[in-house]
Amino acid sequence: MTSSGEPGQKPVALEQRGEGVDGRRYSPSTARNREPVRDVFAAEGLTRGRVLEIASGTGEHGAFLTEAFEGLDWTYSDIDPPSRASQAAWRAAAGHDRLHGPLTIDASSEDWGEAEMAGWDVIVSMNMIHIAPFAAGAGLVRGAGRLLAPGGRLFLYGPYARDGVIAPSNAAFSESLKSRDPDWGVRDLDREIVPLALQAGLSLVSVVEMPANNLSVIFRRA
Ligand SMILES: C[S@@+](CC[C@H](N)C(=O)[O-])C[C@H]1O[C@@H](n2cnc3c(N)ncnc32)[C@H](O)[C@@H]1O
Repeated sequence: MTSSGEPGQKPVALEQRGEGVDGRRYSPSTARNREPVRDVFAAEGLTRGRVLEIASGTGEHGAFLTEAFEGLDWTYSDIDPPSRASQAAWRAAAGHDRLHGPLTIDASSEDWGEAEMAGWDVIVSMNMIHIAPFAAGAGLVRGAGRLLAPGGRLFLYGPYARDGVIAPSNAAFSESLKSRDPDWGVRDLDREIVPLALQAGLSLVSVVEMPANNLSVIFRRA
């Protein structure tokens, strides 16, 4: 069950996604996680400011969260053209003008193009780090260190191991990812991501347990 990017290329998600006549795509996993994610945004005060989303996928998170929080001004991005087309369709369907982009951003690049202006209040990335080469996650963390405003926050969502310990369901998921691409796989938050964040000038401020053995992870830039 996969959702394809460009014809002949690897899938960008391991689920079957729906698509409406207006080009908006729908992700079953987003339908399950968007409300728990919204609750973390509320609890952590991520309800105002300029948000850059890396790997926006269908674009549903940005649409849902800007609907929930009127103070959010959200810019989509993705490496994948069909995903960007869905993001554009969600932006066009929104009843407000606080959705922007989609920008073309490869997280592993050191140049995020139009997004290379320092001062983003929040950088968000959900469910990318495990389904991309490690360079994408590393580039994401470096980009957050480079482009967040002082006090700005990096919000990550997805499955992680914690200091060498991984939930059985995440271990099985990681093996299935690696069987598709040996460069993919569930990362260890404490051993792989936090050290990169510290190097980038980010400190870990919150880790929130989410349904289905996922985590919401929030870093703050000094
Ligand atoms: C599993 S989907 C997650 C999408 C969405 N954030 C969500 O939670 O539903 C993974 C996304 O990562 C994007 N992606 C993969 N590698 C990337 C990279 N190097 N830079 C930016 N986006 C990337 C894919 O195009 C895809 O949209």
